[in-house]
Amino acid sequence: MHHQQPKVVWDEMRSRSEQKIRMFMTILQLINDRMEAALNAAGAQGAPAIIQLSSKLEFGDYQANGVMAAAKNLRMNPRELAQKVVAALDLKGVANKIEIAGPGFINIHLDSAFLARRNETALKDEHLGVTLPPPLKLMVEYSSPNLAKEMHVGHLRSTIIGDALARVLEFLGHDVVRANHVGDWGTQFGMLTAYLLETGNANNVAMALSDLETFYRNAKVRFDESEDFANRSRDYVVRLQRGDPEVLALWRQFVEVSIAHAQDIYDKLGVGLKREHVRGESAYNADLPMVVSDLQDAALLSDNDGTKVVYLEEFRTQENQAMGVIIQKKDGGYLYTTTDISAIRYRHRMLGLQRVIYVVDARQSQHFQQLFTICRRAGFAPADMALEHIAFGTMMGDDGKPFKTRSGGVVKLADLLDEADERAYTLVSQKNPELPEDKKRHIAHVVGIGAVKYADLSKSRTSDYIFNWESMLSFEGNTAPYLQYAYTRVQSVFRKVDDYDADASILILEPAEKQLAVALAQFEDVVLGVAEAGYLHHLCQYLYQIATLFSRFYEACPILKSEGAVRASRLQLAALTARTLKTGLDLLGIEVLEEM
Ligand code: ARG
Repeated sequence: MHHQQPKVVWDEMRSRSEQKIRMFMTILQLINDRMEAALNAAGAQGAPAIIQLSSKLEFGDYQANGVMAAAKNLRMNPRELAQKVVAALDLKGVANKIEIAGPGFINIHLDSAFLARRNETALKDEHLGVTLPPPLKLMVEYSSPNLAKEMHVGHLRSTIIGDALARVLEFLGHDVVRANHVGDWGTQFGMLTAYLLETGNANNVAMALSDLETFYRNAKVRFDESEDFANRSRDYVVRLQRGDPEVLALWRQFVEVSIAHAQDIYDKLGVGLKREHVRGESAYNADLPMVVSDLQDAALLSDNDGTKVVYLEEFRTQENQAMGVIIQKKDGGYLYTTTDISAIRYRHRMLGLQRVIYVVDARQSQHFQQLFTICRRAGFAPADMALEHIAFGTMMGDDGKPFKTRSGGVVKLADLLDEADERAYTLVSQKNPELPEDKKRHIAHVVGIGAVKYADLSKSRTSDYIFNWESMLSFEGNTAPYLQYAYTRVQSVFRKVDDYDADASILILEPAEKQLAVALAQFEDVVLGVAEAGYLHHLCQYLYQIATLFSRFYEACPILKSEGAVRASRLQLAALTARTLKTGLDLLGIEVLEEM
């Protein structure tokens, strides 16, 4: 159909859970089912239909690509098979035109009356016509910074993507547990404790940590320059691990102060993470010996000269040996993976989760694949508990190198978000100098934070992403300001009319109306697709497309100058556009404004 269209590949979705998906019927699924029935009738038993949204207008609204593969399998001429399939295809009341194109693509043009009814239903429904899937108890684990350090841009991506995913899953009616698996345990706390005591700050931890980054850096300098300091640090680590009350009390303060720093960022971003979502690595300490003994009982553990290791045949080292994952070091210490195994064990036994989603940097992919493998084999995660690593790429600066400050330092998130506000404020002041100050500040905040989030979410998460202020704050193109502005423009139409009828029927007469109506009816497929695979940029592209199609519609089909049933219908399409934009942006964690 139109370009910029998100391509939802049915096959990808199908491989996940055939049963689950089949219980409800989106347009995509409906067409898929009818198409597969037709393939069966035409002799291609069990062949997948492979339905996609069409990439160009002349290809109709949906395209079936399954015939070519099926024909190859049957050693048939694809066009001949396509003709048989079309003859057997029953899309009465759904499509009004079905054509064969190219080597055997089947293009489907949706019926206007069918679309009108779908859109009317969506308007009356609080979920915009989305059929809710059977509810699951699931967890989205995101943000998860290492404490006693300031949060960095890497954690920004996790925080933004994780929050949006949690919102989408909540919207679909799932019971979503948000989790912040902070790194609150490790040898760095020994060093920090030594520095705190050395600087005479033990009585005022919050004060000493007002600038966490500097504190950490200074402690590290001392650690590197003084053997004596380093020894003291190590001693504190041992005392911390033994549960020495004095060291433990200081550690607890470190943790609370850092969590409070992180909380400021969460509040500024509006990402729905609270203190109660924090369950850090330390929470699993008591369970770690049991993890070891359970792995032992499952005969998964090897003793390698005192080191406890799980060897995984399916992961190979460079020498083509089974890869070993260390569970416990010779000195008794545990590792990052051990804690994660323990967390999965807990999440299954104590929380009864059915799906656990980890929003973590792609560089940890191998860690998660090994973790999941071990947990499955040990029975900590039963087969019906889905474990997913939602990986994302690195955030890069304009220079194509990992994002840094101008002086080459790490970028503090708090500074970055302040800068977003400031830059947006300058823009808003240029655009609307006459607005009162507090209003400008509010708009600037909504636009600034929205821009930072959208810039991240609108790129495929798996690729590295280039952070650029100018492009993310542009009012043109696929940006948050463009979409926020598009929303206020639709709303401004409603301020000019006093005859809006929320029960009016939708009539689809003009091509621009049809294109908009088709796109609006795809909301359900897009949202369900995002919930399955966690590609939020599909939702972004979709919203951008809605905004673009609305402005075309608005130009081609005057609303205010039209009359009667046509005017009422166009207002309905405008109303559904506004609700779709608002709902979609809300799922991304982005606010809209009635005026800007
Ligand atoms: N704290 C880790 C880091 O900053 C991320 C933790 C990810 N979650 C997990 N369950 N391992 O790299």
